[in-house]
Amino acid sequence: MVLLGVNIDHVATLRNARGGQEPDIVQAALCAERHGADGITIHLREDRRHIKDADVRQIQSVIQTRLNLEMAATPEMIEIAREVKPYMVTLVPERREELTTEGGLDVVRLKDSLTRSVSALTEAGIKVSLFVDPSIEQLNACKAVGAPVVELHTGEYANAAIINPENAKPSLEQLFVAARYCQEIGLELNAGHGLTYENVGPVVALPGLIELNIGHNIVANAIFMGLGPAVAKMKALLA
Ligand code: PXP
Repeated sequence: MVLLGVNIDHVATLRNARGGQEPDIVQAALCAERHGADGITIHLREDRRHIKDADVRQIQSVIQTRLNLEMAATPEMIEIAREVKPYMVTLVPERREELTTEGGLDVVRLKDSLTRSVSALTEAGIKVSLFVDPSIEQLNACKAVGAPVVELHTGEYANAAIINPENAKPSLEQLFVAARYCQEIGLELNAGHGLTYENVGPVVALPGLIELNIGHNIVANAIFMGLGPAVAKMKALLA
């Protein structure tokens, strides 16, 4: 069964809108776990627009599942990760002006610096995943820099699927080709970004897929049905 990593960044977005403690991010993590999350994913951005440093430490200390910390490969973030020691770090590209992570990492171009980042995190006992577009060239570079895991960026598929499922077929096929290539060269496979109750079905069938990281759609639906049922509904779709 494909594992569900629930990204709770936007619980923090809502909390930060008023600057107080509501909704409580730690309670959100525990609630997601009770309703079937196999892991909690949070993105500590350079501008701290949602998750704050204290959230990372508190969530890591209370959850029973696994923490996946998304972050840019900067010296500041690597130092925080080495201290907090989440189960996994997913390295993502980050631009201050973007609304969300817009594309995958250019591992080909950043090979030398990413080799150093991956090794600094691996030395601290942290599993490293690289968030990349479904490209053979990028997957080869992921293998070369020593990352054991990749997370395939499903954003292009998700955007195409909004128009209609037929429109999403070429991007879905690219994800399948990339997933098969991961199996061939021995990369563990996660995927995520832009996934919803409506479009997640075909992605669950990716060969060798271990985990999906899903956030915005679950938190958005939680407004209407509550966080627990919103997590449980996604979990059921992954089954
Ligand atoms: N995976 C990565 C690497 C991301 O940056 C994000 C967004 O923070 C997600 C998954 C989850 O995307 P969404 O919120 O669209 O489900």
